[in-house]
Amino acid sequence: MKIISTPLALKTYLKSIDKSIGFVPTMGALHEGHISLIKEAKKSNEFVVVSIFVNPTQFAKGEDLLKYPSDELRDKKICEMSGIDVLFYPKAKDIYGEDEVSVLAPKIRAYILEGFTRPSHFNGVLSVVMKLLNIVNPSKAYFGKKDAQQLMLIELMVKQLFMDVEIIAVDTVRENDGLAMSSRNVYLSVDEREDALCISRSLNLASSMISKGIMDVESITEAMREFLTPLEIYYVEILSREFEKIPQVTIGKSIILVEVKVGTTRLLDNIWL
Ligand code: PAJ
Repeated sequence: MKIISTPLALKTYLKSIDKSIGFVPTMGALHEGHISLIKEAKKSNEFVVVSIFVNPTQFAKGEDLLKYPSDELRDKKICEMSGIDVLFYPKAKDIYGEDEVSVLAPKIRAYILEGFTRPSHFNGVLSVVMKLLNIVNPSKAYFGKKDAQQLMLIELMVKQLFMDVEIIAVDTVRENDGLAMSSRNVYLSVDEREDALCISRSLNLASSMISKGIMDVESITEAMREFLTPLEIYYVEILSREFEKIPQVTIGKSIILVEVKVGTTRLLDNIWL
């Protein structure tokens, strides 16, 4: 595995390689969720690039940028053991300059759900993903369904800006007890870790209501909200796969999204129906 830290060095290196490139962008603190993206990339590409970059522009003031979990040695070992070809590990000054050009996320779909309480978040995500895709120029790039709104906005950006990359969505990897894996789970105390189980359980509750034929969005979200109290709920929504409001669940076309605060940690999860 080669470790490269500047965009120019990576671009130059990749130009000498005549292989299909699969790309997995991450912010490090790697876990099984990231590893499953890498495995998918390895399955259908001759060459796999992973990036680790804690992108400052997607964090607002007061968010966890400075304490975002990081373990460089461990992450490098995981990448090495996963059999990737290149790890791109830049610093902020390698990616951002002054007086920057940036991508503006769409005014509606980036300002609901996660974007409602983090209004600058998706501008930062789309800007860095655009930069990373331009540096690596992969045939396929891999993103987790766990961050469903992020995935939808990246797919939208690629389509609307006529970009030449295929976005591959990968299923959410969970702990044995159902908690969706996340780099931020390390913030949770033992008690908070227990409370966090309510999230996936509320999604299971919704699934079982749906399997009994209850398709009414309001009834399902109300039952979920009741189940999630006393956690602080940011949102519980059932939307179409295009992230539009719907009155009734349609199997194969809907998605249930939840975000709550456990202690001081924001945790999100979803299921694709
Ligand atoms: P990060 O949170 O490190 O996640 C990197 C990728 O791993 C994302 O596509 C995310 O959806 C996926 N992922 C995280 N947890 C997962 C899980 N439990 N199962 C499956 N996939 C999972 O998301 C980001 O970084 C950043 O916003 C980034 C896209 C890298 C831009 O900075």
